[in-house]
Amino acid sequence: PLVTSKDLFEKAYKKDYAIGAFNVNNMEIIQGIVDAAKEERSPLILQVSAGARKYANPVYLKKLVEAAIEDSGLPIVLHLDHGESFEVCKQCVDDGFTSVMIDASHHPLAENIAITKKVVEYAHAHGVVVEAELGRLAGIEDAVNVSEKDAAFTNPDEALEFVEKTGVDSLAIAIGTSHGAYKFSGEPKLDFDRLKEIDHKLKGTPLVLHGASTVSAEFVDLCNQHGGTIPGAQGVPEEMIRKAASMGVCKVNIDTDLRLAMTAAIRRELYENPSNFDPRKYLGPGREAIKRMVQHKLANVLGSTNLV
Ligand code: G3H
Ligand code: 13P
Ligand code: NA
Ligand code: ZN
Repeated sequence: PLVTSKDLFEKAYKKDYAIGAFNVNNMEIIQGIVDAAKEERSPLILQVSAGARKYANPVYLKKLVEAAIEDSGLPIVLHLDHGESFEVCKQCVDDGFTSVMIDASHHPLAENIAITKKVVEYAHAHGVVVEAELGRLAGIEDAVNVSEKDAAFTNPDEALEFVEKTGVDSLAIAIGTSHGAYKFSGEPKLDFDRLKEIDHKLKGTPLVLHGASTVSAEFVDLCNQHGGTIPGAQGVPEEMIRKAASMGVCKVNIDTDLRLAMTAAIRRELYENPSNFDPRKYLGPGREAIKRMVQHKLANVLGSTNLV
């Protein structure tokens, strides 16, 4: 069934696992993720960004997610990723999403609170849950000194004020992760002390980790060996995601790992079989690579298996 994340997060919070939130843009991506979750009996969050809505047309994505629910029987949350305004959040609530993110984190605190509160009021009145963000996603190397780090990363006292004033259901925090395939130039490092302090202050609000892809060398190397140029890509080590999942983090956002798995498989297929021009014969391997990657993540990193 189509569900909200409320019960999923309540259970995940108490245990050492987290729910995977995967960005979806087309049929093969959805099928790869859902096939993996079916085998692992794992609940899922399928999330749609503004870019995804623009690329695929919102109605196609909605229908594909409905097909995934019908086919799998799994509890699936349909979530708006990085909603940039009240209007886009409202549109998704009206379209039947069960969860929306309002990302007003680039605004000053008071404005972030005001916009988030407005989204919460509308969404809650329609049975939809809300994720918001406080702090700026930035690698530690982007924040070169302590004061810059303090300015970019989520402040625990502000987090408490934010959650109390907005009534938001979950909070995305900045502790050193960033979007994309180039997360760290040196040693990967997250601010777990800050995560612990935020969790302690918030006493039970589910936390969300954006920019949480692993960027496995396996996929980066496959791309680079078959005509790609993505040198120096680096993500968040699996061990750090496990640790975050054992703390207050209930939702782990993954997009880059899907892109890399799919692209690696398609590059290899086309490189090894230059005469292939049947899209099924490269999108199929792309879908299969996503399935294997997601299955590994659910079973060995997020630990959200055998819950259904
Ligand atoms: O947070 C960003 C996600 O990876 C979505 O990316 O806006 O290109 O769809 P996108
Ligand atoms: P990655 O780029 O690490 O996959 O993060 C995705 C994300 O946070 C989507 O909101
Ligand atoms: Na947990
Ligand atoms: Zn994100």
